[in-house]
Formats: sequence, structure tokens, C-alpha cells
Amino acid sequence: MSEMKIKAAKKAVEYVEDGMVLGLGTGSTTKFAVDEIGKLVANGYDLVGIPTSIETEKQARSLNIPLTDLECVDHIDLTIDGADEVDPNFNLIKGLGGALLREKIVAYYSQKEIIIVDSSKIVNVLGTRVSLPVEVIQFSHKKTKEALERLGCVAKLCGAEVPFVTDNGNYIYDCKFTSILEPYGLESRLNSIPGVVENGLFLDLASHVVIGTENETRILEKKAD
Ligand code: A5P
Repeated sequence: MSEMKIKAAKKAVEYVEDGMVLGLGTGSTTKFAVDEIGKLVANGYDLVGIPTSIETEKQARSLNIPLTDLECVDHIDLTIDGADEVDPNFNLIKGLGGALLREKIVAYYSQKEIIIVDSSKIVNVLGTRVSLPVEVIQFSHKKTKEALERLGCVAKLCGAEVPFVTDNGNYIYDCKFTSILEPYGLESRLNSIPGVVENGLFLDLASHVVIGTENETRILEKKAD
């Protein structure tokens, strides 16, 4: 599995050009891409990164990748990030690593969002393989769980006995739907629940998907609508 992730990560980093502002995603696949970006910096590339989590920030600092804050740039050229599911329309479920909020903000402001996955993440319909993570504020989180379940899922607090706390101080509910047939409608229903900060549906945000398989690396580019 790691081999497939490494292949996808290396292919995505071929899109990095000297002088770029880069969004740095989070997760075990993206970690390999950040390693490759570190090598470019060591070879003299003038790059600046915006990490999507404290974990990625630590890795980037250890590789001497210069970092900045989203508020200090007027655009992000390219973001490389992983995903938990990818559907045929380039829509995604992300956030099982707990970093969905910052990942989604960075994706929104990125000119290109390259998603790197191994082939196990490819699905026909979102929600069929994994739960949908939803970040909620701690205040009223049990009430928020009830509201989430009224949308037709089983919601489980991430972290079980000791709740997982995100980099933003919030909790995550992993919401298992049988399938998500109408992701756009679900996204707006989720985000209209008071207490929901953001959800892991990434719709119309990915521009490219790089899939590492055992034999090859496939690059898919989303056609303009
Ligand atoms: C982090 O919050 C996530 O969105 C990850 O990008 C996603 O879970 C994929 O992670 P892996 O590459 O570790 O599977």
C-alpha cells in the first residue's frame, strides 16, 4: 500500500514549480509528498507552504520548508492532499485524519487541488466505503449528534473514551450513511445544523486526482464545466 501512495505522491510533486505557494495537506499519503517537497527545497526551489494541520506543520519544519499563513498570501498555486473516498465526479470524502476544516479552507483558496490516493479510495458512490467526518463544536455536541442522525446516519464520536480534539479545539463525529446519493443537498443540510463547523464532503474542489496502483500511476484532470 505504501508503494502506491509513494508513486501517487511523487507524480503529484511533478506539478510543483519554483516560486509556488503550496497548500500542504495532511495524512499518510500526503506525508510522502511533503517529503518530496522538502527535497525540492533542499535543491534550491523557492517555495512557501501553508500547512493544513499541526502534524504537517511539524513535518514541514523538520524539512526546512518555509511556511506562511493563509492570511499572508493572495492565492495558493497548488495544494496536494489525500482523500478517503473519490467518486467519478472528483467529489471527495476527506477528514478521517481529523484535519478536514483547515484542509477544506486551503482547498477552497487553491488554484489547483491535486488529490493523491491509492486505488482503494476510488468509489462509485460517496459514503459506501467510509464514514463522513463532521467537525462540531464541543458545546452542545450531543444535541448536534442527534441532529446529524436525523439526516439518516449513525454518528459516532471520534476517539471513543477520550474524544479526539481537532487542531481547532472541536470534536469530530464519524457519520455512517448507507450511501450519499445527493452530496450537494447533504452538505448544505449538514452545515445548516447549529454546532456543525464543517463536514468532510469536498465537492467541486479537486482539480486533479492521482491514483497510485500496483502497476501504474493514473492522472485524472477535471474538465472545466
Ligand atoms: C486528513 O484529515 C484527511 O483528510 C486525509 O487527507 C485523508 O484522511 C487521507 O488520509 P490517508 O492518506 O492517511 O489515507
